[in-house]
Amino acid sequence: MQVEINLKENAYKVYIDELENLSLDTKVFILSNPKISGLHLQSLLSKIKAREIFIATIKDGEEYKNLATLEEILNQMFNSKLDRKSVLISFGGGVISDMGGFAASIYQRGIEFINIPTTLLACVDAAVGGKTGVNNAYGKNLIGTFYQPKAVYCENKFLRTLSPKELSAGMAEFIKMAVMFDEKILEFIESMDAKSFLNASCENEIFTQIIAKSVELKARVVEQDEKEAGLRMLLNYGHTFAHVIENLTNYKLYLHGEAVAVGMNMANHLALNLGLLSKMESQRIEDILLKFKLPVSYKIKNVAEFYEAFFRDKKSSNQKLNFVLANTLGKGVIKDDIAKEDIIATLREFQ
Ligand code: GLY
Repeated sequence: MQVEINLKENAYKVYIDELENLSLDTKVFILSNPKISGLHLQSLLSKIKAREIFIATIKDGEEYKNLATLEEILNQMFNSKLDRKSVLISFGGGVISDMGGFAASIYQRGIEFINIPTTLLACVDAAVGGKTGVNNAYGKNLIGTFYQPKAVYCENKFLRTLSPKELSAGMAEFIKMAVMFDEKILEFIESMDAKSFLNASCENEIFTQIIAKSVELKARVVEQDEKEAGLRMLLNYGHTFAHVIENLTNYKLYLHGEAVAVGMNMANHLALNLGLLSKMESQRIEDILLKFKLPVSYKIKNVAEFYEAFFRDKKSSNQKLNFVLANTLGKGVIKDDIAKEDIIATLREFQ
């Protein structure tokens, strides 16, 4: 199955559940991490034909998504003597696709890259849409580019080796899309057998459906707003809170998707306090998050510090904070005029 991302000269396809034989008449540089390459590299290599293949692995984890690791990657690309026709393949989760895409976008002013995501989170979100980047001391993804891949290949087989925690984290981004855009998807999620899914013992078809539904939705969003001037901001639901939590905890406490789950619940408390969401709707989302064993709460030690950290996020502009909130189920809204007292009152609920 394929989904087309119609971005004129940057158009590409997302292939779902089929890793084709790739024949590339150029040098190929595969970026991965030790865990993924240990599990799946041989299978990937059996599908690739190229002039030369170079393999580079970087440490696994969001805490390594930084400029120091980016420099390591670029050095390895130079050591491999890649030229402007070479192709980089990001083979891993969101950290790998963000960093591989970023390295590809700046190496000799840009070479082509392909995403082969191996986590659910990367299949449903990170590997599609062309956001690339790294974190720094000021916050998450503050350095980066919009740079579209040439193709994305999501193969279900890779998802079978994920832990329940990693599958939960991927579900958080899928739940995010459902709450923002489509209540029917929320009903689909509610109908899922969470236990068999989290054990990765569900039918292949379930993975395919989840990836297809989210990629189709994301395609339509990215096609309308590639550079996040408006509509695409709705995909940041939960992220304003999540980025602060991730930054305050040095990216060690939660997987990104888990932090997003907490962030969505915090955003829902704010939406509830502002009258945008009913108690029943907020509870329904919380129940779905809990069903997929996601965290919904983070203990805020210092409310003032948490509040100030919002301003370092790129989602704020002109000293105004942008919050993406649910305004009934299946419909998101961006708010940039929320009174400080209302935000503080919501943060206090998590003290
Ligand atoms: N991960 C959110 C986006 O791609 O816009």
